[in-house]
Amino acid sequence: MVDDAVMGMAERRRASAGQFDAAVLLSEMDAGAIDACTSYVSAEAYLSPQLFAQEKSRIFGKLPIAVASAKELPQPGSYLSIDIAGLAVVLTRNKAGEVKAFLNACSHRGARLAEPGASECALKISCPYHAWTYNLDGKLIGVPRQELFTDFDKAAYSLKALPCREAGGLVWVSLDPDVAVDDDSIGRELIGDFDAIGLGDMRIFRAQNFEVAANWKLIEDAFLEGYHVIRLHAKTLARFFVDAPQSIERIGRHLRQSSGSRRGFNRADVSPVWDELRKSVVYAYIAFPNVVVVTSPAYVSLMFTSPVSADRTYIRYMMMVDGKGDVPEQESLYERSYALMSEAFGNEDFRAAELSQKGLETGALKALTLGGMEQGVRRFHDIIEEFVHAEGATSR
Ligand code: FES
Ligand SMILES: [Fe+2]
Repeated sequence: MVDDAVMGMAERRRASAGQFDAAVLLSEMDAGAIDACTSYVSAEAYLSPQLFAQEKSRIFGKLPIAVASAKELPQPGSYLSIDIAGLAVVLTRNKAGEVKAFLNACSHRGARLAEPGASECALKISCPYHAWTYNLDGKLIGVPRQELFTDFDKAAYSLKALPCREAGGLVWVSLDPDVAVDDDSIGRELIGDFDAIGLGDMRIFRAQNFEVAANWKLIEDAFLEGYHVIRLHAKTLARFFVDAPQSIERIGRHLRQSSGSRRGFNRADVSPVWDELRKSVVYAYIAFPNVVVVTSPAYVSLMFTSPVSADRTYIRYMMMVDGKGDVPEQESLYERSYALMSEAFGNEDFRAAELSQKGLETGALKALTLGGMEQGVRRFHDIIEEFVHAEGATSR
């Protein structure tokens, strides 16, 4: 009997120590008591093209960034073409099953090899222009009429590789070829949390792309505070939530926020088993700088934001779920959840980001004011500022 119980626990994924401790802390907080506090973020943070350029070079250009779900490259031979902060990158999964990243430029005359969003399963990638062909390790393997080139060494024409690693169910890439992408530079605690969530074992239920006329940080901000939830989302998500204290922790350069669900919870609800814990606590992560992961009892929202300019952001959203898709009731629950999230994110959070951008562009505000339920936003901007001001920073 005891053995059965222990066996059952062993088979079920355990929450990470950090997730568990945050839930314990939350269960000890007085649900009605939210600390009052005021802080500010400069309006320039969202408007300045100079600052945007610094963020691109000192943050996006210097750190390992999560760019895709590992499930977007489901098998050897898969490839995916994406933009990361305006730079065209192609990801592949080679014959050995390893994920590789390359600058998405043909080594003949520079053409982008695949359109953004193109994803396929093939054993090679062929340039649409003159049909030079590469294998999934980026090696040039085919040149039509090769005899027409003199002194030609195919080996010198491989695609330009970027450091890349699969961890916590995500694909991480550094746009700087000299920055190592490993568990330490990504952040072991964050990887541990994503492994506990099971991100790498889930499947992509549906995905949707958005183009939002707002600075990328306005998108992140919406996932860093609970103040708007029952107000902006009055018609969609409000029924699941109440104003409540949150626990916000910095894990390395990343952020983990934990909050209770509407029905409230106490110490007895804090289970070490992930599937139990996720029923009472919502965990929202910023995998710094630009990836949002939000848990819920039934699914996980995964969002990759890619800054295009100071006032434009491209977003790839996907809903990750468990199971093989063979339980009709479960699928219809996912379907309803997807419709709700798509509405709440697309027409509410992203819309609010666009309204904020427009309002800030009037110049009416020098600074944005953050109250007791919005301090996660300030924490996020503190980390941004650290990296923008730290010359030569790589990771921490
Ligand atoms: S530019 Fe790619 S084959 Fe010519
Ligand atoms: Fe929201």
